[in-house]
Amino acid sequence: MYDFTADSDLPTAELHRQLVQACDALTSGESDSVANMANVAALMWEFIPRLNWAGFYRVIGDELVLGPFVGRPACIRIPMGQGVCGTAASEGKTQLVKDVHAFPGHIACDAASNSELVVPVVRDGRTIAVIDLDSPDKSRFDHEDAAGVEALARVLSNRI
Ligand code: SME
Repeated sequence: MYDFTADSDLPTAELHRQLVQACDALTSGESDSVANMANVAALMWEFIPRLNWAGFYRVIGDELVLGPFVGRPACIRIPMGQGVCGTAASEGKTQLVKDVHAFPGHIACDAASNSELVVPVVRDGRTIAVIDLDSPDKSRFDHEDAAGVEALARVLSNRI
């Protein structure tokens, strides 16, 4: 049994440091990308408070395809450049969106989502996937969350 427990009262930077450590421990000896994405989706859900969706989209051809996640069933395919995820993937840049309803082209998979953080996972200079976090709270994510999930993405770069 894995027992990675998070204390949601931790300061944001420390919470993400512990999340990255747990992610590293869970994925370091495993080469199966689906297994690793599934476990990391579960870890993010466990560690990061106030989420309604946490998971992965993978870059396949010229679109994003849904990967392992925790939350309500979501859109399966997203064209590159569309929505928050497609923008993060095509620009290769983290998208920190305080109010998804103000983001042009936002794709509403769950009506409960109000803010979103999407971080590209880059391997050899190419975006291979994005990590997507949704929250029912407006302005849920800040720059410390972005830096933390970017550190997670670097750990996963060769493991998914
Ligand atoms: N809102 C995302 C779509 C994915 S769901 O949030 C799970 C977007 O605009 O790309």
